[in-house]
Amino acid sequence: MPFETDEESGGIAELKQANKIQPHIAINDSSDIQLNSFRDFLIKNRGYILFALTSMLLIYRNNLQPLNFLIVIILFFWAIIRLIARTTIFSKGELSRDKPSLKRKTKIFSLVISMFITFIIVSSTLFLNFSPQVGGDSLPYEVSPNFRDGTFHNLNPTDISSGNVSFLELLVQYIVSDDHRSPNIPLPTKEFEKLNLEADEISITWLGHSTLLIHTNNVTIITDPIFGEDNMDPLFFGPMPFIYQHTYELEDLPEIDYVFISHDHYDHLDMGTIKQLEDSEFFVPLGVKAHLLRWGIDEKNIEELDWYDEINISSELNVALTPSQHFSGRGLFNGDTTLWASWVFNLNDKSIFFSGDSGYMEEYVTIGEKYGPFDIAFLESGQYNEAWNNIHMFPEEVIQAGIDLNATTILPIHNSKYELSLHHWDEPLERVTAEGERRNLSVATPMIGESFVLGKTIPNRAWWTNVSDGPDLFLKDNIIVGVIVVPLNIVSIVWIVLSLKHNKSLNRSIEKVTNSEEE
Ligand SMILES: [Fe+2]
Repeated sequence: MPFETDEESGGIAELKQANKIQPHIAINDSSDIQLNSFRDFLIKNRGYILFALTSMLLIYRNNLQPLNFLIVIILFFWAIIRLIARTTIFSKGELSRDKPSLKRKTKIFSLVISMFITFIIVSSTLFLNFSPQVGGDSLPYEVSPNFRDGTFHNLNPTDISSGNVSFLELLVQYIVSDDHRSPNIPLPTKEFEKLNLEADEISITWLGHSTLLIHTNNVTIITDPIFGEDNMDPLFFGPMPFIYQHTYELEDLPEIDYVFISHDHYDHLDMGTIKQLEDSEFFVPLGVKAHLLRWGIDEKNIEELDWYDEINISSELNVALTPSQHFSGRGLFNGDTTLWASWVFNLNDKSIFFSGDSGYMEEYVTIGEKYGPFDIAFLESGQYNEAWNNIHMFPEEVIQAGIDLNATTILPIHNSKYELSLHHWDEPLERVTAEGERRNLSVATPMIGESFVLGKTIPNRAWWTNVSDGPDLFLKDNIIVGVIVVPLNIVSIVWIVLSLKHNKSLNRSIEKVTNSEEE
Protein backbone atom coordinates (compact mmCIF):
# COMPACT_ATOMS: atom_id res chain seq x y z
CA MET A 1 0.00 0.00 0.00
CA PRO A 2 1.81 3.19 -1.13
CA PHE A 3 -0.12 5.59 1.09
CA GLU A 4 -0.28 3.84 4.41
CA THR A 5 -2.16 5.82 7.05
CA ASP A 6 -1.49 5.97 10.76
CA GLU A 7 -4.61 4.07 11.63
CA GLU A 8 -3.21 0.98 9.94
CA SER A 9 -0.51 0.40 12.56
CA GLY A 10 -2.52 -1.13 15.35
CA GLY A 11 -5.59 0.87 14.26
CA ILE A 12 -7.95 -2.05 14.74
CA ALA A 13 -6.73 -2.69 18.27
CA GLU A 14 -7.13 1.01 19.08
CA LEU A 15 -10.60 1.14 17.66
CA LYS A 16 -11.64 -1.99 19.43
CA GLN A 17 -10.34 -0.52 22.67
CA ALA A 18 -12.24 2.68 22.08
CA ASN A 19 -15.35 0.71 21.31
CA LYS A 20 -15.07 -1.22 24.55
CA ILE A 21 -14.66 1.91 26.63
CA GLN A 22 -17.56 3.65 24.92
CA PRO A 23 -19.72 0.79 23.70
CA HIS A 24 -22.72 3.08 23.16
CA ILE A 25 -20.95 5.05 20.47
CA ALA A 26 -21.15 3.50 17.04
CA ILE A 27 -17.88 3.53 15.15
CA ASN A 28 -18.58 4.63 11.58
CA ASP A 29 -15.14 5.48 10.30
CA SER A 30 -11.59 6.09 11.46
CA SER A 31 -12.27 9.78 12.15
CA ASP A 32 -13.86 8.63 15.42
CA ILE A 33 -10.42 8.15 16.84
CA GLN A 34 -9.79 11.02 19.22
CA LEU A 35 -7.07 13.34 17.99
CA ASN A 36 -4.64 13.69 20.82
CA SER A 37 -2.55 16.46 19.42
CA PHE A 38 -2.12 18.90 16.60
CA ARG A 39 0.51 16.56 15.16
CA ASP A 40 -2.01 13.76 14.97
CA PHE A 41 -4.39 16.13 13.23
CA LEU A 42 -1.78 17.05 10.62
CA ILE A 43 -0.86 13.40 10.00
CA LYS A 44 -4.46 12.31 9.77
CA ASN A 45 -5.37 15.09 7.35
CA ARG A 46 -2.13 15.30 5.38
CA GLY A 47 -3.86 14.47 2.10
CA TYR A 48 -6.43 17.22 2.57
CA ILE A 49 -3.78 19.72 3.72
CA LEU A 50 -1.58 19.00 0.71
CA PHE A 51 -4.62 19.30 -1.54
CA ALA A 52 -5.61 22.66 0.02
CA LEU A 53 -2.09 24.10 -0.18
CA THR A 54 -1.40 23.00 -3.75
CA SER A 55 -4.86 24.09 -4.92
CA MET A 56 -4.43 27.54 -3.35
CA LEU A 57 -1.00 27.82 -4.95
CA LEU A 58 -2.49 26.94 -8.34
CA ILE A 59 -5.23 29.53 -7.83
CA TYR A 60 -2.61 32.13 -6.87
CA ARG A 61 -0.46 31.35 -9.90
CA ASN A 62 -3.50 31.75 -12.13
CA ASN A 63 -4.37 35.25 -10.86
CA LEU A 64 -7.48 34.16 -8.98
CA GLN A 65 -6.29 35.32 -5.57
CA PRO A 66 -9.74 36.53 -4.39
CA LEU A 67 -10.87 32.88 -4.61
CA ASN A 68 -8.17 32.04 -2.07
CA PHE A 69 -9.57 34.69 0.29
CA LEU A 70 -12.96 33.04 -0.14
CA ILE A 71 -11.45 29.62 0.68
CA VAL A 72 -9.76 31.03 3.79
CA ILE A 73 -13.07 32.54 4.95
CA ILE A 74 -14.88 29.22 4.37
CA LEU A 75 -12.17 27.32 6.30
CA PHE A 76 -12.39 29.89 9.09
CA PHE A 77 -16.16 29.36 9.44
CA TRP A 78 -15.72 25.58 9.14
CA ALA A 79 -13.18 25.60 12.01
CA ILE A 80 -15.50 27.73 14.18
CA ILE A 81 -18.42 25.35 13.53
CA ARG A 82 -16.21 22.35 14.39
CA LEU A 83 -15.12 24.02 17.63
CA ILE A 84 -18.68 24.90 18.64
CA ALA A 85 -19.75 21.33 17.82
CA ARG A 86 -17.44 20.13 20.61
CA THR A 87 -19.43 22.13 23.17
CA THR A 88 -22.93 21.34 24.42
CA ILE A 89 -24.59 23.97 22.21
CA PHE A 90 -27.56 22.42 20.35
CA SER A 91 -26.33 18.98 21.53
CA LYS A 92 -29.65 17.81 22.96
CA GLY A 93 -30.45 14.38 21.56
CA GLU A 94 -27.04 13.97 19.90
CA LEU A 95 -25.03 10.88 20.87
CA SER A 96 -21.66 12.10 19.68
CA ARG A 97 -20.27 15.61 19.68
CA ASP A 98 -17.52 14.56 17.28
CA LYS A 99 -20.02 13.50 14.65
CA PRO A 100 -22.66 16.25 14.77
CA SER A 101 -25.74 15.63 12.67
CA LEU A 102 -26.50 17.78 9.64
CA LYS A 103 -29.37 19.35 11.59
CA ARG A 104 -27.02 20.37 14.43
CA LYS A 105 -24.37 21.65 12.00
CA THR A 106 -27.05 23.75 10.26
CA LYS A 107 -28.15 25.21 13.60
CA ILE A 108 -24.56 26.06 14.55
CA PHE A 109 -23.92 27.55 11.09
CA SER A 110 -27.04 29.73 11.39
CA LEU A 111 -25.91 30.91 14.82
CA VAL A 112 -22.39 31.82 13.58
CA ILE A 113 -23.71 33.64 10.51
CA SER A 114 -26.31 35.58 12.55
CA MET A 115 -23.60 36.63 15.02
CA PHE A 116 -21.34 37.70 12.15
CA ILE A 117 -24.09 39.75 10.45
CA THR A 118 -25.05 41.32 13.79
CA PHE A 119 -21.42 42.28 14.36
CA ILE A 120 -21.21 43.94 10.91
CA ILE A 121 -24.49 45.84 11.41
CA VAL A 122 -23.62 46.96 14.96
CA SER A 123 -20.05 48.02 14.09
CA SER A 124 -21.16 49.94 10.94
CA THR A 125 -23.96 51.64 12.89
CA LEU A 126 -21.52 52.59 15.64
CA PHE A 127 -19.04 53.87 13.05
CA LEU A 128 -21.63 55.90 11.16
CA ASN A 129 -23.00 57.44 14.34
CA PHE A 130 -19.87 58.04 16.34
CA SER A 131 -16.86 58.26 14.01
CA PRO A 132 -16.00 61.87 13.19
CA GLN A 133 -14.58 60.69 9.84
CA VAL A 134 -18.09 60.44 8.43
CA GLY A 135 -18.41 64.20 8.89
CA GLY A 136 -21.43 66.30 9.71
CA ASP A 137 -25.04 66.27 8.56
CA SER A 138 -25.61 68.91 5.93
CA LEU A 139 -28.78 70.98 5.91
CA PRO A 140 -31.28 70.88 3.03
CA TYR A 141 -30.36 73.40 0.34
CA GLU A 142 -33.80 74.20 -1.02
CA VAL A 143 -32.48 77.42 -2.56
CA SER A 144 -30.21 75.52 -4.92
CA PRO A 145 -31.73 74.54 -8.27
CA ASN A 146 -29.57 71.40 -8.07
CA PHE A 147 -31.21 70.24 -4.81
CA ARG A 148 -34.48 68.34 -5.08
CA ASP A 149 -36.27 65.82 -2.82
CA GLY A 150 -33.57 65.91 -0.18
CA THR A 151 -30.55 65.33 -2.43
CA PHE A 152 -28.41 67.00 -5.07
CA HIS A 153 -28.74 65.94 -8.70
CA ASN A 154 -26.56 65.95 -11.81
CA LEU A 155 -27.48 68.24 -14.67
CA ASN A 156 -28.75 65.21 -16.56
CA PRO A 157 -30.25 62.20 -14.74
CA THR A 158 -27.29 59.92 -14.06
CA ASP A 159 -27.20 56.40 -12.67
CA ILE A 160 -23.99 55.46 -10.89
CA SER A 161 -24.25 52.01 -12.42
CA SER A 162 -24.27 52.19 -16.21
CA GLY A 163 -26.12 48.88 -16.55
CA ASN A 164 -23.61 47.85 -19.24
CA VAL A 165 -22.00 45.16 -17.08
CA SER A 166 -23.91 42.51 -15.16
CA PHE A 167 -23.21 41.92 -11.48
CA LEU A 168 -21.87 38.47 -12.34
CA GLU A 169 -19.47 39.83 -14.98
CA LEU A 170 -18.19 42.41 -12.52
CA LEU A 171 -17.76 39.77 -9.82
CA VAL A 172 -15.71 37.63 -12.21
CA GLN A 173 -13.58 40.67 -13.10
CA TYR A 174 -12.90 41.26 -9.39
CA ILE A 175 -12.12 37.56 -8.77
CA VAL A 176 -9.66 37.41 -11.65
CA SER A 177 -6.99 39.43 -9.93
CA ASP A 178 -4.23 41.15 -11.78
CA ASP A 179 -0.73 41.96 -10.62
CA HIS A 180 -0.66 45.23 -12.52
CA ARG A 181 -3.57 46.98 -10.85
CA SER A 182 -0.96 48.28 -8.40
CA PRO A 183 2.75 48.79 -9.03
CA ASN A 184 4.92 46.03 -7.58
CA ILE A 185 7.70 48.39 -6.55
CA PRO A 186 7.78 51.93 -5.10
CA LEU A 187 6.75 54.39 -7.79
CA PRO A 188 9.54 56.66 -9.04
CA THR A 189 8.74 60.14 -7.76
CA LYS A 190 10.56 63.45 -7.30
CA GLU A 191 11.37 65.20 -4.08
CA PHE A 192 9.30 68.38 -3.76
CA GLU A 193 11.34 71.47 -4.58
CA LYS A 194 9.98 74.98 -4.45
CA LEU A 195 10.80 76.75 -7.71
CA ASN A 196 12.14 80.29 -7.89
CA LEU A 197 9.40 82.06 -9.82
CA GLU A 198 9.40 85.24 -11.84
CA ALA A 199 6.78 87.86 -10.90
CA ASP A 200 3.61 86.32 -12.40
CA GLU A 201 4.73 82.76 -12.94
CA ILE A 202 2.71 79.85 -11.66
CA SER A 203 4.28 76.60 -10.56
CA ILE A 204 2.31 73.37 -10.61
CA THR A 205 3.06 70.19 -8.67
CA TRP A 206 1.01 67.01 -8.87
CA LEU A 207 1.24 65.05 -5.61
CA GLY A 208 -0.72 61.99 -6.79
CA HIS A 209 -4.44 61.27 -7.21
CA SER A 210 -6.27 64.66 -7.21
CA THR A 211 -3.89 66.61 -4.99
CA LEU A 212 -2.33 69.55 -6.86
CA LEU A 213 -0.25 72.36 -5.49
CA ILE A 214 -0.60 75.61 -7.46
CA HIS A 215 1.83 78.23 -6.31
CA THR A 216 2.80 81.81 -7.17
CA ASN A 217 4.98 84.28 -5.32
CA ASN A 218 1.88 85.48 -3.46
CA VAL A 219 -0.65 82.67 -3.47
CA THR A 220 -0.56 78.95 -2.68
CA ILE A 221 -3.52 76.75 -3.54
CA ILE A 222 -4.08 73.05 -2.93
CA THR A 223 -6.82 70.86 -4.36
CA ASP A 224 -8.34 67.77 -2.68
CA PRO A 225 -5.39 67.34 -0.31
CA ILE A 226 -4.68 63.83 0.99
CA PHE A 227 -1.49 63.30 2.98
CA GLY A 228 -0.25 60.43 5.11
CA GLU A 229 0.49 56.82 4.28
CA ASP A 230 -2.36 55.12 6.14
CA ASN A 231 -5.08 53.14 4.46
CA MET A 232 -7.72 55.33 2.96
CA ASP A 233 -10.60 55.96 5.36
CA PRO A 234 -13.21 55.10 6.43
CA LEU A 235 -12.10 51.73 7.78
CA PHE A 236 -8.81 49.96 8.30
CA PHE A 237 -9.39 47.85 5.20
CA GLY A 238 -9.62 50.87 2.89
CA PRO A 239 -7.13 50.78 0.02
CA MET A 240 -3.48 51.47 0.85
CA PRO A 241 -1.86 54.27 -1.13
CA PHE A 242 0.84 53.10 -3.54
CA ILE A 243 4.34 53.33 -2.13
CA TYR A 244 6.25 56.32 -3.50
CA GLN A 245 10.00 56.80 -3.54
CA HIS A 246 9.44 60.10 -1.72
CA THR A 247 6.99 61.00 0.97
CA TYR A 248 5.16 64.30 0.98
CA GLU A 249 4.14 66.16 4.09
CA LEU A 250 2.28 69.44 4.39
CA GLU A 251 5.18 70.83 6.45
CA ASP A 252 7.46 70.46 3.41
CA LEU A 253 5.21 72.58 1.19
CA PRO A 254 4.78 76.36 1.14
CA GLU A 255 2.12 77.55 3.57
CA ILE A 256 -1.27 76.80 2.03
CA ASP A 257 -3.52 79.87 1.66
CA TYR A 258 -6.53 78.30 0.00
CA VAL A 259 -7.88 74.76 -0.05
CA PHE A 260 -10.33 73.74 -2.76
CA ILE A 261 -12.43 70.60 -2.35
CA SER A 262 -14.29 68.96 -5.25
CA HIS A 263 -16.57 66.60 -3.26
CA ASP A 264 -16.75 64.64 -0.04
CA HIS A 265 -15.56 61.17 -1.10
CA TYR A 266 -12.83 59.78 1.14
CA ASP A 267 -10.16 59.89 -1.59
CA HIS A 268 -10.74 63.66 -1.93
CA LEU A 269 -11.61 64.82 1.57
CA ASP A 270 -9.47 63.47 4.38
CA MET A 271 -10.28 64.43 7.96
CA GLY A 272 -6.67 64.21 9.19
CA THR A 273 -5.34 66.39 6.38
CA ILE A 274 -8.14 68.96 6.76
CA LYS A 275 -7.38 69.28 10.47
CA GLN A 276 -3.72 69.93 9.67
CA LEU A 277 -4.81 72.75 7.33
CA GLU A 278 -7.07 74.46 9.89
CA ASP A 279 -5.44 77.87 9.38
CA SER A 280 -6.12 77.91 5.63
CA GLU A 281 -9.25 79.18 3.91
CA PHE A 282 -11.55 76.49 2.53
CA PHE A 283 -13.74 76.62 -0.58
CA VAL A 284 -16.20 73.76 -0.87
CA PRO A 285 -19.35 72.75 -2.77
CA LEU A 286 -22.70 73.12 -0.94
CA GLY A 287 -23.06 70.81 2.05
CA VAL A 288 -19.38 69.94 2.50
CA LYS A 289 -19.08 72.73 5.07
CA ALA A 290 -20.92 70.49 7.61
CA HIS A 291 -18.02 68.00 7.52
CA LEU A 292 -15.40 70.70 8.04
CA LEU A 293 -17.34 72.22 10.94
CA ARG A 294 -17.51 68.82 12.64
CA TRP A 295 -13.74 68.57 12.30
CA GLY A 296 -13.21 71.88 14.06
CA ILE A 297 -12.61 74.24 11.15
CA ASP A 298 -13.70 77.78 11.97
CA GLU A 299 -16.89 78.71 10.09
CA LYS A 300 -15.43 82.05 8.99
CA ASN A 301 -12.72 80.12 7.11
CA ILE A 302 -15.19 78.15 5.00
CA GLU A 303 -16.91 79.35 1.85
CA GLU A 304 -19.65 77.20 0.30
CA LEU A 305 -20.57 77.54 -3.36
CA ASP A 306 -23.19 76.24 -5.77
CA TRP A 307 -22.49 75.49 -9.45
CA TYR A 308 -21.55 78.63 -11.37
CA ASP A 309 -21.10 80.71 -8.21
CA GLU A 310 -18.04 82.95 -8.56
CA ILE A 311 -15.80 84.48 -5.91
CA ASN A 312 -13.19 87.17 -6.23
CA ILE A 313 -10.68 86.06 -3.60
CA SER A 314 -7.91 88.56 -4.26
CA SER A 315 -6.59 90.81 -6.99
CA GLU A 316 -4.75 87.79 -8.42
CA LEU A 317 -7.30 85.05 -7.87
CA ASN A 318 -10.88 84.64 -9.05
CA VAL A 319 -12.61 81.30 -8.85
CA ALA A 320 -15.84 79.66 -9.94
CA LEU A 321 -17.44 76.41 -8.89
CA THR A 322 -18.56 74.52 -11.98
CA PRO A 323 -20.55 71.29 -12.47
CA SER A 324 -19.26 67.76 -12.64
CA GLN A 325 -21.15 64.52 -13.25
CA HIS A 326 -20.68 62.40 -10.18
CA PHE A 327 -22.20 61.72 -6.75
CA SER A 328 -21.31 62.15 -3.09
CA GLY A 329 -21.53 60.59 0.35
CA ARG A 330 -19.39 59.37 3.25
CA GLY A 331 -21.83 57.09 5.08
CA LEU A 332 -24.57 54.63 4.27
CA PHE A 333 -27.38 57.14 4.53
CA ASN A 334 -25.98 60.51 3.42
CA GLY A 335 -25.59 59.86 -0.30
CA ASP A 336 -25.87 62.96 -2.51
CA THR A 337 -26.66 65.27 0.43
CA THR A 338 -23.58 67.34 -0.47
CA LEU A 339 -22.73 68.76 -3.88
CA TRP A 340 -19.90 67.56 -6.19
CA ALA A 341 -18.12 69.93 -8.55
CA SER A 342 -15.20 71.09 -10.65
CA TRP A 343 -13.31 74.36 -10.17
CA VAL A 344 -12.16 77.16 -12.42
CA PHE A 345 -9.24 79.30 -11.24
CA ASN A 346 -8.20 82.55 -12.79
CA LEU A 347 -4.78 83.15 -11.30
CA ASN A 348 -2.40 85.84 -12.52
CA ASP A 349 -4.54 86.00 -15.69
CA LYS A 350 -4.04 82.32 -16.42
CA SER A 351 -7.09 80.06 -16.61
CA ILE A 352 -6.95 76.70 -14.90
CA PHE A 353 -9.59 73.97 -14.73
CA PHE A 354 -9.77 71.22 -12.10
CA SER A 355 -12.31 68.50 -12.89
CA GLY A 356 -12.79 66.81 -9.52
CA ASP A 357 -14.41 63.44 -10.26
CA SER A 358 -16.69 63.29 -13.27
CA GLY A 359 -18.06 61.22 -16.07
CA TYR A 360 -17.89 62.77 -19.51
CA MET A 361 -20.58 65.47 -19.89
CA GLU A 362 -21.62 67.90 -22.61
CA GLU A 363 -21.41 70.68 -20.03
CA TYR A 364 -17.65 70.83 -20.67
CA VAL A 365 -18.46 72.78 -23.85
CA THR A 366 -20.46 75.31 -21.82
CA ILE A 367 -17.70 75.63 -19.19
CA GLY A 368 -15.15 76.07 -22.01
CA GLU A 369 -17.24 78.79 -23.64
CA LYS A 370 -17.83 80.59 -20.32
CA TYR A 371 -14.35 80.39 -18.77
CA GLY A 372 -12.01 79.08 -21.48
CA PRO A 373 -9.67 78.84 -23.16
CA PHE A 374 -7.77 77.15 -20.37
CA ASP A 375 -4.01 77.25 -20.08
CA ILE A 376 -4.18 73.90 -18.37
CA ALA A 377 -6.97 71.50 -17.38
CA PHE A 378 -6.40 68.93 -14.64
CA LEU A 379 -8.73 66.14 -15.71
CA GLU A 380 -9.65 63.02 -13.81
CA SER A 381 -8.25 60.03 -15.64
CA GLY A 382 -8.33 56.82 -13.67
CA GLN A 383 -10.67 54.47 -11.76
CA TYR A 384 -12.92 54.15 -14.82
CA ASN A 385 -14.87 51.02 -15.74
CA GLU A 386 -17.62 50.17 -18.21
CA ALA A 387 -19.86 49.43 -15.21
CA TRP A 388 -19.67 53.04 -13.93
CA ASN A 389 -18.74 55.05 -17.01
CA ASN A 390 -21.34 57.73 -16.18
CA ILE A 391 -19.33 58.94 -13.20
CA HIS A 392 -15.71 58.45 -14.30
CA MET A 393 -14.27 59.21 -17.75
CA PHE A 394 -12.45 56.78 -19.99
CA PRO A 395 -9.08 58.14 -21.18
CA GLU A 396 -10.43 58.85 -24.68
CA GLU A 397 -13.26 60.88 -23.12
CA VAL A 398 -10.69 62.81 -21.09
CA ILE A 399 -9.11 64.05 -24.30
CA GLN A 400 -12.56 64.93 -25.68
CA ALA A 401 -13.27 66.86 -22.46
CA GLY A 402 -9.98 68.74 -22.89
CA ILE A 403 -10.98 69.67 -26.45
CA ASP A 404 -14.50 70.69 -25.31
CA LEU A 405 -13.02 72.87 -22.57
CA ASN A 406 -10.71 74.52 -25.07
CA ALA A 407 -7.66 73.60 -23.00
CA THR A 408 -4.16 74.19 -24.36
CA THR A 409 -2.78 71.36 -22.23
CA ILE A 410 -4.36 68.73 -20.05
CA LEU A 411 -2.81 66.95 -17.06
CA PRO A 412 -4.32 63.53 -16.17
CA ILE A 413 -5.01 63.14 -12.44
CA HIS A 414 -6.93 60.66 -10.24
CA ASN A 415 -4.42 57.91 -10.96
CA SER A 416 -1.14 56.49 -9.59
CA LYS A 417 -2.14 56.48 -5.92
CA TYR A 418 -5.01 54.10 -5.15
CA GLU A 419 -6.36 50.93 -6.73
CA LEU A 420 -10.06 51.80 -6.92
CA SER A 421 -10.90 50.12 -10.20
CA LEU A 422 -9.84 47.13 -12.28
CA HIS A 423 -7.51 48.62 -14.87
CA HIS A 424 -3.72 48.49 -14.74
CA TRP A 425 -2.36 51.32 -12.61
CA ASP A 426 -0.50 52.87 -15.58
CA GLU A 427 -3.20 52.29 -18.22
CA PRO A 428 -4.80 55.77 -17.83
CA LEU A 429 -1.45 57.45 -18.52
CA GLU A 430 -0.74 55.19 -21.50
CA ARG A 431 -4.18 55.68 -23.06
CA VAL A 432 -4.49 59.42 -22.39
CA THR A 433 -1.09 60.18 -23.90
CA ALA A 434 -1.78 57.98 -26.93
CA GLU A 435 -5.16 59.63 -27.53
CA GLY A 436 -3.69 63.09 -26.93
CA GLU A 437 -1.11 62.41 -29.63
CA ARG A 438 -3.78 61.09 -31.99
CA ARG A 439 -6.01 64.14 -31.49
CA ASN A 440 -3.16 66.61 -31.27
CA LEU A 441 -3.80 67.79 -27.71
CA SER A 442 -0.85 68.49 -25.42
CA VAL A 443 -0.75 66.16 -22.38
CA ALA A 444 1.46 67.06 -19.42
CA THR A 445 2.81 64.05 -17.54
CA PRO A 446 4.97 65.35 -14.71
CA MET A 447 6.29 62.83 -12.22
CA ILE A 448 4.61 62.87 -8.85
CA GLY A 449 6.31 65.62 -6.82
CA GLU A 450 7.84 67.31 -9.88
CA SER A 451 7.16 71.05 -10.14
CA PHE A 452 6.93 72.90 -13.46
CA VAL A 453 6.12 76.45 -14.52
CA LEU A 454 2.84 76.87 -16.38
CA GLY A 455 3.38 78.11 -19.93
CA LYS A 456 7.04 77.06 -20.02
CA THR A 457 8.25 73.56 -20.88
CA ILE A 458 5.51 70.99 -20.32
CA PRO A 459 6.89 67.77 -18.78
CA ASN A 460 5.91 64.88 -21.01
CA ARG A 461 8.30 62.04 -20.23
CA ALA A 462 6.64 58.61 -19.94
CA TRP A 463 8.02 58.08 -16.42
CA TRP A 464 5.68 55.12 -15.77
CA THR A 465 7.06 52.78 -18.46
CA ASN A 466 8.76 49.61 -17.20
CA VAL A 467 7.76 50.45 -13.63
CA SER A 468 4.98 47.92 -13.28
CA ASP A 469 7.10 44.88 -14.11
CA GLY A 470 8.63 44.71 -10.65
CA PRO A 471 10.61 41.81 -9.24
CA ASP A 472 9.69 38.17 -9.88
CA LEU A 473 7.59 36.63 -7.13
CA PHE A 474 8.99 33.20 -6.21
CA LEU A 475 5.73 31.31 -5.64
CA LYS A 476 4.08 32.97 -8.62
CA ASP A 477 6.79 33.06 -11.25
CA ASN A 478 9.25 30.28 -10.41
CA ILE A 479 9.25 27.53 -13.07
CA ILE A 480 10.20 24.72 -10.67
CA VAL A 481 7.27 25.61 -8.39
CA GLY A 482 5.04 25.56 -11.49
CA VAL A 483 6.35 22.14 -12.55
CA ILE A 484 5.89 20.40 -9.17
CA VAL A 485 2.63 21.96 -8.00
CA VAL A 486 0.34 20.10 -10.44
CA PRO A 487 1.78 16.58 -9.76
CA LEU A 488 1.63 17.31 -6.02
CA ASN A 489 -2.01 18.32 -6.37
CA ILE A 490 -2.76 15.05 -8.19
CA VAL A 491 -0.82 13.08 -5.56
CA SER A 492 -2.92 14.70 -2.81
CA ILE A 493 -6.15 13.68 -4.55
CA VAL A 494 -4.94 10.07 -4.92
CA TRP A 495 -3.87 10.15 -1.27
CA ILE A 496 -7.32 11.30 -0.16
CA VAL A 497 -9.12 8.68 -2.28
CA LEU A 498 -6.87 5.85 -1.04
CA SER A 499 -7.26 6.90 2.59
CA LEU A 500 -11.04 7.04 2.24
CA LYS A 501 -11.03 3.56 0.70
CA HIS A 502 -8.70 2.25 3.36
CA ASN A 503 -10.84 3.70 6.18
CA LYS A 504 -13.93 2.12 4.69
CA SER A 505 -12.38 -1.36 4.57
CA LEU A 506 -10.91 -0.83 8.07
CA ASN A 507 -14.36 -0.06 9.44
CA ARG A 508 -15.81 -3.14 7.78
CA SER A 509 -13.07 -5.28 9.44
CA ILE A 510 -13.77 -3.70 12.83
CA GLU A 511 -17.47 -4.35 12.51
CA LYS A 512 -16.76 -7.97 11.65
CA VAL A 513 -14.36 -8.42 14.62
CA THR A 514 -16.77 -6.68 16.99
CA ASN A 515 -19.70 -8.80 15.81
CA SER A 516 -17.74 -12.05 16.14
CA GLU A 517 -16.57 -11.06 19.67
CA GLU A 518 -20.16 -10.32 20.70
CA GLU A 519 -21.28 -13.70 19.36
FE1 LIG B 1 -15.57 60.46 -6.15
